[in-house]
Amino acid sequence: MAAAPARLVVLVSGAGTNLQALLDACADPAYGATVVAVGADRDGIEGLARAERLGIPTFVHRVKDFASREDWDAALTDSVASYEPDLVVLAGFMKLVGASYLPVLGRRTINTHPALSPAFPGMHGPREALEYGVKITGCTLFVVDDGVDTGAIVAQTAVPVEDDDTVETLHERIKVAERAMLVDTVGRMAREGWTVDGRRVRLGG
Ligand code: GRF
Repeated sequence: MAAAPARLVVLVSGAGTNLQALLDACADPAYGATVVAVGADRDGIEGLARAERLGIPTFVHRVKDFASREDWDAALTDSVASYEPDLVVLAGFMKLVGASYLPVLGRRTINTHPALSPAFPGMHGPREALEYGVKITGCTLFVVDDGVDTGAIVAQTAVPVEDDDTVETLHERIKVAERAMLVDTVGRMAREGWTVDGRRVRLGG
């Protein structure tokens, strides 16, 4: 009997094109994963609409609706954990998870960043790569920890910077690579498992 598909919870804050790439991949049973819920830190975003159109459960926790950031983090942890995910994917989720979340779900949570870590962490990876003048940048998939884009690296893809790039054209080129990296790597994690030894992540048994 085939193994049950891995349960994915995906967290988003915006357009959700990375989420859509995962949803498309999950339509094939051979992919080995299924999106069981999509969460967000804000309402009215296309990322949530993509899930709603497929009848996938969604939840929203806005920081401003909680007395403290810690309370928000605890509510997020409870909601994500309630779906019993094998893997949580932060796909353009623009918040750092915190002290409630990390001990419960941190080892099962990956995030995608539009730069080649450890270069250009934070919210402006494509802009900072362009301003620095690097000729190669890219995207990084990592296991979340308590830093900003500092976690153990699961996968990276290099992307060239073109002479006439703007922040927008560069970020769009990175996002094409990011979606392919995410789909390929999440599928392998779902089907083959993964181990983390210090900073070194290995896919497969
Ligand atoms: C991605 O480049 C992600 O790495 C960054 O924001 C973008 C999200 O894109 N943090 P989308 O919402 O998946 O289209």
